[in-house]
Amino acid sequence: MRAAIYCSYGPPEVMELKDVEQPSIMDDDRVLIRVHSASVNALDYLYRKGYLPTRLENGLIKPKKSILGIDVAGTIEAIGNNVHKFKVGDHVFGSCFGSHAEYVTPRENTLSHIPKNVSFEEAAAIPCAAQTALQALRDVAQIKQGQRVLIYGASGGVGHFAVQLAKYFGTEVTAVCSTSNLQWVKDIGADYVLDYTKEDFENNGKKYDIILDAVGKRTFFRCLPSLTEAGVYITEHLFYPKYHPIQLMVSSLISRKKAKIHLAKPNDKDLDFLSSLVEEEKIRPVIEKCFPLNQIVEAHRHVESGRTKGKIVINIITE
Ligand SMILES: NC(=O)c1ccc[n+]([C@@H]2O[C@H](COP(=O)([O-])OP(=O)(O)OC[C@H]3O[C@@H](n4cnc5c(N)ncnc54)[C@H](OP(=O)(O)O)[C@@H]3O)[C@@H](O)[C@H]2O)c1
Repeated sequence: MRAAIYCSYGPPEVMELKDVEQPSIMDDDRVLIRVHSASVNALDYLYRKGYLPTRLENGLIKPKKSILGIDVAGTIEAIGNNVHKFKVGDHVFGSCFGSHAEYVTPRENTLSHIPKNVSFEEAAAIPCAAQTALQALRDVAQIKQGQRVLIYGASGGVGHFAVQLAKYFGTEVTAVCSTSNLQWVKDIGADYVLDYTKEDFENNGKKYDIILDAVGKRTFFRCLPSLTEAGVYITEHLFYPKYHPIQLMVSSLISRKKAKIHLAKPNDKDLDFLSSLVEEEKIRPVIEKCFPLNQIVEAHRHVESGRTKGKIVINIITE
């Protein structure tokens, strides 16, 4: 099968297309998916660049697993003996390492049926970013109706789902992004939009019950004055040193305001829930651009620029 692979850590140019062995179903709870589309996430370029935490998992000197991609949308071509939720021919989406390839074999508990009202491309844009936003707001911050929520980095993959989910949970949403993104972020539901190139939310005198820093640009210390008495600050950024867990733990000891680092946990229940929200038109993925697999280098460059509006998607098959 065709796959985008990397054999050494480095810039986007280390990615290349190669023919590799097609995976087969090794466990009874796995399915074989012919991949239609897959998105590119920040995690893909962190692995490709060889950030230390990713090297500890994927090889210190060179990558052990050479195919990237963590989101998938496609058609089931075969199922393991213990698969009950899906059948051959089903259109599914979900989480699976190695999805920048023609075939993958994820476990059934990381997948859901594609919502009827979206394409493969749109479905591929959902899993990682939307589950991250959902779990951060619902499970970590325990979001409640009527709260004031600020989403920092509202125009990115995680951020644009966070805006829509925070509205779904009945909160007042302030979205922070740059000038060119203000209008579409308002269009997806933000009550207020702040242009970070012109004003700083830390100076507007408002307090928020939840501040979700989706792009790792604001520390807990900077956000403290803008949090309510029992306010929660969450960062999604795992590897940036100033967000080191020790700092967050120490910060939490000095006030009732809480600081949390969140690591998304892919699972089918959350995917099913997100799928139903998409079908009910409560949330929708926004895709800035789709690239064919043979433009994987350009797709990586784009995502690594940190300027993506919504999501970037790779099309593996186009028919
Ligand atoms: N913890 C987890 O489980 C988990 C899961 C997924 C992602 N993440 C992490 O979450 C972060 C965001 O991921 P993502 O996929 O949402 O990223 P992304 O889509 O690449 O984010 C791009 C967005 O960031 C905005 N941005 C860039 N600089 C900004 C600034 N100074 N202030 C405000 N916004 C700014 C850009 O808007 P402008 O062009 O308008 O500036 C752009 O829309 C990454 O660090 C990723 O590693 C963590």
